[in-house]
Amino acid sequence: MTILEFRQQCEKALDSCRKESQEVDSLDKLNAFKGRHLGKKSALTSFYQGMKDLSLEDRKVFGQVLSELKANITAIYEERLKEIDEKMLLEKMAKKKVDISLPGFDKATGTIHPYFKVVREIVDFFVGLGFVVADGPEVETDENNFERVNIPKDHPARDMQDSFVISDGWILRSHTSAVQSRVMKEMGGKEPVKIICPGKVYRRDNDATHSHQFGQIEGLVISKDATFANLLELLTKLLRHLFGEKRSVRFRPSFFPFTEPSIEADISCFECDGKGCSFCKNTGWIEILGAGMVHPNVLRLNGYDDKACQGFAFGLGIDRIAMLKYGIDDIKKLYLDDADFLAQFRKE
Ligand code: PHE
Repeated sequence: MTILEFRQQCEKALDSCRKESQEVDSLDKLNAFKGRHLGKKSALTSFYQGMKDLSLEDRKVFGQVLSELKANITAIYEERLKEIDEKMLLEKMAKKKVDISLPGFDKATGTIHPYFKVVREIVDFFVGLGFVVADGPEVETDENNFERVNIPKDHPARDMQDSFVISDGWILRSHTSAVQSRVMKEMGGKEPVKIICPGKVYRRDNDATHSHQFGQIEGLVISKDATFANLLELLTKLLRHLFGEKRSVRFRPSFFPFTEPSIEADISCFECDGKGCSFCKNTGWIEILGAGMVHPNVLRLNGYDDKACQGFAFGLGIDRIAMLKYGIDDIKKLYLDDADFLAQFRKE
């Protein structure tokens, strides 16, 4: 065969390939087409097989024509493949119409629990003032929880708090004041002390605003010159930080065995701005925390020289503050892990 004849044959093969390709409109047809024009029984393959009978010289010349044929057929095949792919995709998309008016999927993002929002806010406030966060166990000794904070056996102040006895001499702590004893012991009579301690406490309590388990934050400052005025200023700043700069703060005399004098702090009601409403039981004030100057007995009981130093302490209820801040009507809601309830705090 001359090269001219070979070229004509190749062109014929390419022509029929082109013609046939126009009929190819599905993946099945394309596969059959591929078999016919690029497969074992194709003209192309038989041309390749014929090459081995040619001289080296001819093989070069014929081979080049053949490579061109192969490239052309492959290009036709690939072009059809692309067209068919696109066609199939369009068909698929037409079937799967997206209704853009439907609501999207809500991603279940977590949120910081309102209880811990309050903890963070208060801890941040005090850490910013140079306080150190202290810790203590929830299973505590009677000694730390009561004796060392000036609540001896048979003291009436035990009545409200002496709730969960683990074994002789061990209880679930009833207030974070137990950490005062621990910190003082650890400090070995040295000052200054400037700590806060958030944690869980336990009492025999159960109604809408009380639970057998709740959270407190204790604060303790001991130094040569920590004054009552310092305490009042600190608490005023804290309460305004938590409830807004517009709040009035009021201190009332009170009693705690571990502080003398003792006070309780109220803020003007943020619902009625102090005028009196059902929220503040018509008093215009909301009770927030207890505090006072550390009782000299407590200093002495924990290894401090009450003539050389003095201090103040305060304790506040985390749950109560969370309930007031976020308008939560039942303390149990803080402990139920109800996702719908918690989701409300996502944007806070
Ligand atoms: N421990 C007290 C209570 O649980 C709160 C308190 C702490 C009061 C420190 C004064 C000083 O009610």
